[in-house]
Amino acid sequence: MMNFSKGFRGAFAFLVVFLSSWRSSTGDPRTSVVAQYCNSTLSVSGAVLADNFVPAMDNVSALVNRNGFGTTVYGQAPNAVYALGQCLEDLNSIDCQLCFSEIRSQLPKCYPKTGGRIYLDGCFGRYENYTFFNRIFDSNDTSVCNNSRNSSNPRVFSALLKEIIGNVSSTAVGNNGYAVASAPAPNSGSSVYVLSQCWQNLDKSLCNSCLAAAASSILGCSPALEARALFAGCFIRYSSSLFWNTYSSGSSSSGNNDLPWIIPVSVVCALLLIVGIVVWRKKVIWRKRNANYLKEFYQPGLSPAISQSNLHFKYGELKKATNNFSQSNKLGQGSYGIVYKAVLSDNREVAIKRLLLNTRQWLDQFVNEVNLVNQVRHKNLVKLLGFSVDGPESLLIYEYFCNRSLDFFIFDPSPDKHLDWEQRYDIIQGVAEGLAYLHEESETRIIHRDIKASNILLDDKFKPKITDFGLARSFPEDQTHLSTGVAGTLGYMAPEYVVHGHLTEKADVYSFGILILEIVTGKRCSNAVGPRAGQSLLAKAWNHYRSDTLNEIIEESIYAESVKDEILHIIKTGLFCTQANLHDRPTMVKVVELLRNSKRVEEFVLTDPPFLDVSVEDVEEGEVSCLLSNSSAPALSTSERQLSGR
Ligand SMILES: *[C@@H]1O[C@H](CO)[C@@H](O)[C@H](O)[C@H]1NC(C)=O
Ligand SMILES: *[C@@H]1O[C@H](CO)[C@@H](O)[C@H](O)[C@H]1NC(C)=O
Ligand SMILES: *[C@@H]1O[C@H](CO)[C@@H](O)[C@H](O)[C@H]1NC(C)=O
Ligand SMILES: *[C@@H]1O[C@H](CO)[C@@H](O)[C@H](O)[C@H]1NC(C)=O
Ligand SMILES: *[C@@H]1O[C@H](CO)[C@@H](O)[C@H](O)[C@H]1NC(C)=O
Ligand SMILES: *[C@@H]1O[C@H](CO)[C@@H](O)[C@H](O)[C@H]1NC(C)=O
Ligand SMILES: *[C@@H]1O[C@H](CO)[C@@H](O)[C@H](O)[C@H]1NC(C)=O
Repeated sequence: MMNFSKGFRGAFAFLVVFLSSWRSSTGDPRTSVVAQYCNSTLSVSGAVLADNFVPAMDNVSALVNRNGFGTTVYGQAPNAVYALGQCLEDLNSIDCQLCFSEIRSQLPKCYPKTGGRIYLDGCFGRYENYTFFNRIFDSNDTSVCNNSRNSSNPRVFSALLKEIIGNVSSTAVGNNGYAVASAPAPNSGSSVYVLSQCWQNLDKSLCNSCLAAAASSILGCSPALEARALFAGCFIRYSSSLFWNTYSSGSSSSGNNDLPWIIPVSVVCALLLIVGIVVWRKKVIWRKRNANYLKEFYQPGLSPAISQSNLHFKYGELKKATNNFSQSNKLGQGSYGIVYKAVLSDNREVAIKRLLLNTRQWLDQFVNEVNLVNQVRHKNLVKLLGFSVDGPESLLIYEYFCNRSLDFFIFDPSPDKHLDWEQRYDIIQGVAEGLAYLHEESETRIIHRDIKASNILLDDKFKPKITDFGLARSFPEDQTHLSTGVAGTLGYMAPEYVVHGHLTEKADVYSFGILILEIVTGKRCSNAVGPRAGQSLLAKAWNHYRSDTLNEIIEESIYAESVKDEILHIIKTGLFCTQANLHDRPTMVKVVELLRNSKRVEEFVLTDPPFLDVSVEDVEEGEVSCLLSNSSAPALSTSERQLSGR
């Protein structure tokens, strides 16, 4: 059998290469976004949702990459994430991967809303916190008409459209949910092309109901020559041009196979004889091509400046270093992403942040920020060691600190977590110096925006290192809720920032004041009923200040007569930082000076406690965000997460 085929081998190899290149050159992942809807409900516990959201997306994209479709459930109610992904049937595996990788970077824009869905021309993705897999309708179902070109004969066009969409839809119901067809359009040289697709999990009757509703909706677009119906359970598109993929040698049954009949019959026979070899060889070549194709797809974003930067790491290397982002390497949830411990090939231990939002869209800006932050060097700031943008997600590489974050210690009553007053004082001083540097001494003025205990890491000598600074600026403004909106609280966030969105360095000063109070009292700013009840840490501190009983709020274990005055001085410095009027707050440089002179107790004039100019509604809203913060703050602590799991 093999001997006569030998002569054809060269020809077949050529044919295979030809077919594969033809295939990948004509394949179109159709990644343009048709529509994205986010649920309007905000998750009550952002970080817990993120804990489930990221693995659920991982899981569903692995399934989609393998099968073109997948559903998954991750976590427990009310933070369970139900996710569904579907590539339209005409996409081959590589185009499906390309399409879904776009979904993976776009859909998280809905986070921390409880749900969202996105329609690309080639694929679909959705997540919710309830089971929706069998729902075929919801309130956002709609058709999107493209009226830039209309049929010149609306009546005939409408009738034809109705017939062909009806045909395609009923074929789809009996064909695993997918069908395409075309027909010549009336009095014109062109045709009308229709594609119907139900999500693969739906049974025939659900698929039928969905397509019927979608069909009657999309018919409302006539005489537009192009339209799409976007339903919870299905998708229909029609167009005056061919838009689906017709891979010539693909297994996809629905393509127009023009190619085979131009191949001589003898070749076809021989091809059948050694089809095994061909399939095998094709797979090998195809796999190689896929790798290159993916690379080319991503490469345009990588300017030489990036790929030659010594800060740039390869995605694959980092993935390996984190053991495939394994759960056991997870250190915690920071703003914008999950942090993993990793060991690089040179045995360096580092922390890698996997960004929840893919930053490819604003790559240049992102890289500028990385370069900027890289120039910022201070003993109390965590060093950024590098980044990676060549994979499906962007990654940041930081120094790793074995002692984790401050919240891990100060809020934990167990004796082995105890920090004595001197250590606490050094931490306060160090954070103040780091912030003063960011605000005034670094080349570019940087406002941190998210100063809190979980963003202060501790090295092996318990010296503080501020993390997560600077990069916040490279995220679009409407995404700040990922960090400051959710993570901030009326406790941590300055009133003018919460109420008016007015951001200056003084917002950091305010947060720093809160941090001082937490460090001295061992209590969370939000571990309370709420400011209105006068129970928040801050309100409590101000009340004690007024009644001259501040020493009562000092954590017992650090209280000693010998350091009492020093501690009181520091608490007052904290209150000084939290005054409502930002002009009354000191600069960080001034704070550093005050802290250094702690022996010389200067009498502060503290006249302006916060919240007096905030209406009751605002305060109530603040309580909600305080609640949100509770659950999202726990960069590194599980106790806090349990707290929010209530
Ligand atoms: C939004 O989420 C809520 C609760 O999670 C759900 O009841 C509602 O149906 C969702 N809305 C849409 C349009 O999915
Ligand atoms: C994906 O989901 C399956 C089944 O729900 C589960 O067994 C598996 O562990 C998940 N994989 C990941 C990476 O989460
Ligand atoms: C979905 O999330 C919302 C807001 O967090 C919550 O109120 C609701 O109970 C959740 N739904 C389910 C089914 O868990
Ligand atoms: C989606 O539906 C919700 C409520 O059902 C509505 O508030 C929202 O405006 C809709 N979004 C769009 C883009 O139509
Ligand atoms: C509408 O169709 C035209 C071509 O027919 C295309 O150029 C344009 O981008 C389409 N508009 C939208 C919103 O899809
Ligand atoms: C197509 O028809 C729609 C309404 O039927 C109209 O709004 C639109 O302007 C028309 N477009 C063109 C290019 O004539
Ligand atoms: C729709 O299906 C019917 C019955 O199978 C067939 O006669 C008709 O030609 C089809 N119409 C189109 C436009 O394909």
